[in-house]
Amino acid sequence: MAKTSMNVAILISGRGSNMVALAKAIAAPDYPARVVGVVSDNADAGGLSLAEELGISAMALPRADYDSKAAHEAAIQKQLEAWDAEIVCLAGYMRLFSAQFIENWPARFINIHPSLLPKFKGLNTHQRVLDAGDPEHGSTVHYVTAGMDEGPVIAQARIEVQAGDTVDTLTDRVLVEEHKLYPMALRKLIDAFLAKQ
Ligand code: GRF
Repeated sequence: MAKTSMNVAILISGRGSNMVALAKAIAAPDYPARVVGVVSDNADAGGLSLAEELGISAMALPRADYDSKAAHEAAIQKQLEAWDAEIVCLAGYMRLFSAQFIENWPARFINIHPSLLPKFKGLNTHQRVLDAGDPEHGSTVHYVTAGMDEGPVIAQARIEVQAGDTVDTLTDRVLVEEHKLYPMALRKLIDAFLAKQ
């Protein structure tokens, strides 16, 4: 029988609002996915309790508990496999993965970044947009590759930068767009996988 759904794991480091947006969208009966678990590299991440409130398995795997980056990544990989994850979504996960880990998830590893990539890779994107005087800003969902915020773009959402905008107002407006963009982009990816089988 043809597969109709894919297992999604979400990796976070913080408040987890994009994780919640993904989980809520995926919970709709016609969304072809299931969230199998949430991993945080930060035991204090607010998103861990939000995931539990949604009935999702949530686990902290802090880097400090492991001797090396490789051992930490191996523990994450083991957990993802235990959950039978098929797609991994980074949602505010603040650590870079090795090329070796990324190779475990060909075309199945995606991230959301708060800028219109390739502009403004890295941190403090809202401030950098203001400093540059850019007329527009937004967010990008892209495949994860070894270079930070460098993988091919799956989808973008744009907002206009208005006179008087601050880091806070841009953060809020971009986040509203991200919460729609990420579920839409993930669905695009899953539909393509399911159509190919
Ligand atoms: C989002 O703006 C996302 O684009 C970036 O980190 C932020 C995470 O926010 N990678 P949250 O934890 O999902 O609320």
